Amino acid sequence: MSVPFLNLSAQYESIKEEVNGAIQQVIEKNAFAGGPFVEKFEKKFAEFCRTKHAIGVSSGTSALWLIMLAMDIGAGDEVITTPNTFIATAEAISFTGATPVFVDIDEQSHNIDPALLEAAITPRTKAIVPVHLFGQPADMDAILAIAKEYQLFVIEDACQAHGAMYKGKRAGSMGDAAAFSFYPGKNLGAYGEAGGVVTNNDEIAQKVRILRDHGQSKKYYHDYVGWNARMDGIQGAVLNVKLKYIDQWNDMRRKNAQSYDVLLADVPGIIAPKEMAYARHIYHLYVIRMANRDEIIAKLREKNIFCGIHYPIPLHLQKAYQRLGYKNGDFPAAEKCAAEYISLPMFPELSDAQIETVVAEIKQLVSGSV
Ligand SMILES: Cc1ncc(COP(=O)(O)O)c(C=O)c1O
Repeated sequence: MSVPFLNLSAQYESIKEEVNGAIQQVIEKNAFAGGPFVEKFEKKFAEFCRTKHAIGVSSGTSALWLIMLAMDIGAGDEVITTPNTFIATAEAISFTGATPVFVDIDEQSHNIDPALLEAAITPRTKAIVPVHLFGQPADMDAILAIAKEYQLFVIEDACQAHGAMYKGKRAGSMGDAAAFSFYPGKNLGAYGEAGGVVTNNDEIAQKVRILRDHGQSKKYYHDYVGWNARMDGIQGAVLNVKLKYIDQWNDMRRKNAQSYDVLLADVPGIIAPKEMAYARHIYHLYVIRMANRDEIIAKLREKNIFCGIHYPIPLHLQKAYQRLGYKNGDFPAAEKCAAEYISLPMFPELSDAQIETVVAEIKQLVSGSV
C-alpha cells in the first residue's frame, strides 16, 4: 500500500462543490485583491482565534515581518527565537534589519526552552518569537512572564498551529500579535499563498493593515513606506469554506496521532511526540525521532511510504546565517533533534490501514535493524 506524506486531493474531494462555488463568486465579483471575501475571513478567523483583530496578508512570512515592522523593530535590535523552525521565522527578523538571536529548545516539546531565555536577553532585545512547532504551543506562561519583566514584545509564530490550545487558550491569542501561514499544506491551507496576523492590540492591527497595502491609510495617501502584502480574494473565499471544517480536521489529525502513539509504543529506538500537559496539539506534523533516520526514510520510500524531515539543519547552522557566528554544539538539543527527526505521513483523511502499514514497515526495519 502506498502512503503519501500529504494528500490534499482527498480534502478537496470532500469540499469540492463549495470551494468551486466560492472561487467562482470571487471571479464574478472581480474581488481579486483584498475585498469582501478577505474581510469576511478576517472576521471569522478573529472569532476562531478569540482575538480582537485578524488581518489577511500574503503569507506567513509577511505576517511575521509586518508585525515586527508595526512594532518598529529594526536595525540595531535583537529578536530572540528558536533555531528549530522553518527559516521564515528568522528571515522575517532579518528583513526588518534586526538580528535573530537563537535559544535552544526543550527536547520534550521541541519548542524554545524558557529556562534558557533570560541568558539571551540584552539591552538590544526587543521581542521574543516562540514558534508553536509541529502544532504544539510553546510554554507561553513562562515566556510571557519573562517578556513582561524585561518589557519585550511576544510574537507567536503560529504558522503550524491553527486551533492549537495552551491551557485552554488559542494559539495566537496570548502574545502581542501572532502570525499564521495558510500555505496549502498547513492544517488550514489556502489554494495558493496566504497568511494572517491576529492581535488584541488596536495599534498593531491598524499599522499592519496599512503596511500590507503600501502604507496607505486611504487610496494614494501613504503614511508609511509599506509593501504589497495583501491576501488575494480567491484565498479569502477558499479559507472561508475551509475554516468551517478546521476543528473537525484537527480532531481527525489528533485521532491519527493517537493511533500512531498506540502502535509505536512498543517499538524500540523510537521517541514518539509528547503532548505536553498544558497543550492541545493539533499535529500539523507527527514527528518521531530515530537514530538512523536517513536509512529508515530511504527504506520506507522503497516501500512507497513517504516521510519528511522538519527540519534537517537548525537555523544557526544554515549557510544563510553563517555571518551570525554560531557553531556546531551551540544548541545541543536542537542539533540532536534535527539529526533524528522523521515526519510520518499525517493528514486528516489518513486511514487506519495506512497508519498500520507505516508502523508495520517501521517495525520490520527496526527488527532487521536496517
Ligand atoms: C514555523 C513557520 N513559520 C513561518 C512560516 C512561513 O509561512 P509561509 O510559507 O506562509 O510564508 C512557516 C510555513 O512554511 C512555518 O512553518
